[in-house]
Amino acid sequence: MEKKRSNFSGGIGFVLAAAGSAVGLGNLWRFPYLAAQYGGGVFILVYIILAVTFGFALLTAEIAIGRKTGLSPVLAYKKLDKRFSFLGYVAIIVPVIIVPYYCVIGGWVTKYITVYATGLASEAAGDAYFDNFISNPVSPMIFFLIFMIISVIIVMLGVKNGIENLSKFLMPILLIISVGISIYALTLPGASEGVAYYLIPDFSKFSLMTVAAACGQLFYSLSIAMGIMITYGSYTKKNVNLSKSINQIEIFDTAVALLAGLMVVPAVYVFSGESGLSDSGPGLMFITLPKVFEQMPGGNIIGLFFFILVFFAAITSSISIIEAIVSSIMDKFKLSRNISCFIVIGICLLLGIPSSLGNGLWENVKILGMDFLTFFDFISNSILMPIVALFTCILVGWVIKPKAITDEVTRNGEKFARKKLFNIMIKYIAPIFLIIILITSTLSQFGIIKM
Ligand code: PHE
Repeated sequence: MEKKRSNFSGGIGFVLAAAGSAVGLGNLWRFPYLAAQYGGGVFILVYIILAVTFGFALLTAEIAIGRKTGLSPVLAYKKLDKRFSFLGYVAIIVPVIIVPYYCVIGGWVTKYITVYATGLASEAAGDAYFDNFISNPVSPMIFFLIFMIISVIIVMLGVKNGIENLSKFLMPILLIISVGISIYALTLPGASEGVAYYLIPDFSKFSLMTVAAACGQLFYSLSIAMGIMITYGSYTKKNVNLSKSINQIEIFDTAVALLAGLMVVPAVYVFSGESGLSDSGPGLMFITLPKVFEQMPGGNIIGLFFFILVFFAAITSSISIIEAIVSSIMDKFKLSRNISCFIVIGICLLLGIPSSLGNGLWENVKILGMDFLTFFDFISNSILMPIVALFTCILVGWVIKPKAITDEVTRNGEKFARKKLFNIMIKYIAPIFLIIILITSTLSQFGIIKM
């Protein structure tokens, strides 16, 4: 018997779950670094312009495809056009590659919560603390398993009881903590210089790379091309106003990115100087920031709140990407939610263990010169995701035509102010941006250009 598809209870549940997916490590450890590198206010300006044009078009396309077809990515593309069924498979390989290593990193975050909660903050500020931790074969593995199991349990609880309820609870808290830490960071002596560095546009740092970097960041930050937004769209009721929801998701995601910059840039600038901002990702979060917290008055408690915030951001993202896989397995193979979840655990163990060991025991095993985690990140983010999004644009712009999407958005007679913009973006401009992302992110991975 065909079971009824799960649903979010309404607009707010959908918006907070989707915002939960969008707000993740990308906002917290990559946006501040990029803003600092690419001229502060200039980068922010470019990012916001791209968010309301390029990001908006891709996000709209995916969410509407999900709601229109009522299917997870593996079947949704096929339903729109048979010739695009391959895209469903590529789109589902992306989360399969990302989930395991995202859970490894989620494990590191979990570890740092325990570090700050047990008063070991000064140890974490030590030079080799993080490297010693990740190169240990056992400890990161345990935290990886903890993070993964928590994520899978939430997904097992279902779309409404698990994902929606958790997002409704965590996302408002996340926002409050972000605002709280930002305000605190602004009161630090010398912060104003750091804020100026973050916000005042430095046009001398503007180049085509600013646009390329902002495009890539936006694309990752909105959880596009990971199968997630199609899946969440498919759980959204027909009476929900998509255009309004999409605006809210974008505002939430961009607001947290901007707040992350306020939390991180001035504080690092004050305590570590400009050079502290030359590192992105794990280096910034697990090495530089603990040193900053150590010097900051009240840094232990701020550090604890900060890592709780990162954990909330990471867990609401990991459940969304697990759900993309689970819903695809459920749709395609007609398996139950629980069995599909167990399959995801299997995938995580298979690919997550090498990712976790790649920093220690297996550090000499390299693929194209990268450890496992970096390699998985590269293949998914720099290669597969731009390809998925590019073909989505071709499908929507040229095959089923933008009207199929705009009709879905306005099915209840809602206003859709950016309809024209959507058409132009999806047909002409977004594909060009995606090709730029594909090229620049590949070149930067191989060190040919710096990003
Ligand atoms: N938008 C997410 C982020 O910024 C991207 C992501 C979502 C990554 C889900 C993994 C899983 O981190």
